[in-house]
Amino acid sequence: MKRIAVLTSGGDAPGMNAAVRAVTKVALSKGMEVFGIKRGYMGMVHDEIFQMDGSHVSGIIDRGGTVLLTARCSEFKDPKFRAIAAENLKKRGIEGIVVIGGDGSYRGADLLAKEHGFKVVGLPGTIDNDIIGTDYTIGFDTCLNTILDAMSKLRDTATSHERTILIEVMGRHAGDLALHASLAGGGDGLVIPEVKEPIEMLAYQIKERRRQGKLHDIILIAEGAGSVFDFEKQLKEKITTDVRSIVLGHIQRGGIPSGFDRVLATRMGAKAVELLENGEGGVMVGIESNALVTHPISFAWEGTRKYDIKKDFELAMKLSK
Ligand code: ADP
Ligand code: F6P
Repeated sequence: MKRIAVLTSGGDAPGMNAAVRAVTKVALSKGMEVFGIKRGYMGMVHDEIFQMDGSHVSGIIDRGGTVLLTARCSEFKDPKFRAIAAENLKKRGIEGIVVIGGDGSYRGADLLAKEHGFKVVGLPGTIDNDIIGTDYTIGFDTCLNTILDAMSKLRDTATSHERTILIEVMGRHAGDLALHASLAGGGDGLVIPEVKEPIEMLAYQIKERRRQGKLHDIILIAEGAGSVFDFEKQLKEKITTDVRSIVLGHIQRGGIPSGFDRVLATRMGAKAVELLENGEGGVMVGIESNALVTHPISFAWEGTRKYDIKKDFELAMKLSK
C-alpha cells in the first residue's frame, strides 16, 4: 500500500496528536505517502484532504487536542455522502485510512470499508475509556489526572467549609472516569451508570462519615448516571451538610497528554501503519495486558467487555467509607 490517510473524529482527546505523529512518521519511513483529513468525516466529504510531511507533525507530541481538527458529521450516516467521501479519497489514490476516534467513528469507517473497498484501521481515541476491545483508550489517563487535580483543589475548600462537594465528570455512558478518579483520588462516594444504587445509600454514607468526624465529602458522579444537580436536590432532602455541585466539563478534554497516553498513542499509531502495510484492514487496535492486539472493527459494538467494572466499584465503595 502506497497511500494512506489519517483523521481524528468525535470528541478530541489528549494524545490524538501523538497518534497522528506516529502514523505519519512511521508511514513516511516506509516510503508511503500520507494524507491528513481535516475535521474528521466532515473533511472527507468536503474534500479537506492534504498531503503531509514531517513538518506537519513536528512539535505536536506534547500538545492536547488534535492538529487535524475534529468534528461530528451526521451526513456521514447517509450512504450518498459516504460515496462522495470515497470519491475524494480515490482520486488521490488513497487505499488505507487510520481513524482515530470512538466507536461511532469506527461505525463510519466500517461502512466506508464495506461499501467502497478501503482498508480501515481504528485507533481508540476518547477520554471516556468506553471502547470494547482495549483496556485503555488514548486520552483517558490524561483526563483522569485532570480530574484528580480538580479533586485535590476541591477537597481543600470542602474541608475548610465542612462541605459535601459533588463533582460531575464526563464519560458519556461509561463510569470509568468517575470510578478511576474515586480509586486514585480517595473519593468519598461514587455514582456510575453501571451500578444502580438508591440515593439513600449515598446519604447514609455521608451521614456515617460525619458521625466518624470526617470534615468533607468529595462525591464523584458520572455524567451517564444523571445530572449532578438532580443528585444535589435529592441529597439535600436527606442530609444536613452544606452541599455544592460542580460540572467539571470540557476542561477534562484538554491539557498536555500524559506520558502514558503518548506512549499508548505512539505504539498504536505505528501498529496501524504496519497493519495497512500488510494489506490488513477492517480492524481496531487495542491494548490488553500491555500488549497491542487487533480485533475486527465491529468488536467495538458486538464484543463483550473484559473489564469487571462492578468489582472495582465495590473496591471504591469499601475505600470511601
Ligand atoms: P465517537 O467516535 O467518539 O463515538 P460519535 O459517536 O459522535 O463519536 O461519532 C463520530 C462521527 O462518526 C459521527 O459524527 C459520524 O460522522 C460518524 N458516525 C457515527 N455513527 C455512525 C454511523 N452509524 N454510520 C456512519 N457514520 C457514523
Ligand atoms: O466522548 C467524549 C465526550 O467528552 C463525552 O465524555 C461527553 O459526553 C461528550 O464527549 C461531550 O461532547 P461535546 O463536546 O459535544 O459537548
